[in-house]
Amino acid sequence: MTKIEGKIVFGIDIGGTSVKCGIFSREGELLYKDEIPTRTQEAGRFILEDISRHIAELSEKNSIEKADVLGIGYGVPGPVQEDGVVNGCVNLGWGKIDVAEQSRKLNGGIASAAGNDANVAALGEFWRGAGRGAKSMLMITVGTGLGCGVIVNGRVVFGAHGAGGELGHIPLVSGLTEPCNCGKTGCLEQAASATGIIRAAQRKLKESDEPSVLRGKDDFMAKDVVDAARNGDALADEVLNYSCRYLAQGLAVAAGVVDPEMYVIGGGVSKAGDFYLDKIRSAYRELAFYASRDAKIVQAALGNDAGMYGAARLVLGSMEA
Ligand code: BGC
Repeated sequence: MTKIEGKIVFGIDIGGTSVKCGIFSREGELLYKDEIPTRTQEAGRFILEDISRHIAELSEKNSIEKADVLGIGYGVPGPVQEDGVVNGCVNLGWGKIDVAEQSRKLNGGIASAAGNDANVAALGEFWRGAGRGAKSMLMITVGTGLGCGVIVNGRVVFGAHGAGGELGHIPLVSGLTEPCNCGKTGCLEQAASATGIIRAAQRKLKESDEPSVLRGKDDFMAKDVVDAARNGDALADEVLNYSCRYLAQGLAVAAGVVDPEMYVIGGGVSKAGDFYLDKIRSAYRELAFYASRDAKIVQAALGNDAGMYGAARLVLGSMEA
């Protein structure tokens, strides 16, 4: 590990199973990263304490003095208001909680800020990844859920209730009967997330006897569907086209609201690269209003680290404001 010197920032990305912890220089260089498990038991009440303990251990190990820590930024998988108050987070078992305030209390008053996981991932890509140099962008993270972050004039759109950019829950998908995690039915997330891809494939397998390499497999991942489609499996390809068309429709709707310069697609499924992105690109070109049609759609550059980068940037930005 490189020796950590000078002023640093912690970028913490809280997920449903693990918490990614990064130490960054003020300029945004990732100096160190690791993970700790997310203890979601008892309504997630240990999570922030665990993180604080880990920060203390990492600081001790690397001789980081409190005065060297500029701030601690957090990404949380649920709606977070601009003041760092989480407006309920089903994934972690949290109700309404002021993460920024709790963090300051637990970490001796160090400046703290929190944002939605997908919003901070977008900020990370904007700062140090695929969105560098853009003025506005919209990032989609295709994972268990469908995350989305919107940046306009260099700033994250938090929204009045912390739900700015909750594209995963716009009502778009018809013909579904099962409810989304949020309680509604027909959310974009139900078709376009990794979980949505798996569900759509399972439905299709049940509804027809079309041959497919996915048939007979108990457990498959979204990546298996993508790989099968790439290898010419017609059923898997149909599923992916369905999912990508809905995703593109979501982008076309968002284009009518924010008209971003570019779209960045991240999350595990996006690693399939152009094979996946081209499906979204062609459907988007068909569905978006003509003026927004030429916006670029690119693959994310920071992989799983985007949330940590953005969390660090968020707290730095809150101090500049
Ligand atoms: C949640 C978002 C979150 C996304 C990715 C969605 O279901 O509503 O707040 O950003 O999943 O974790």
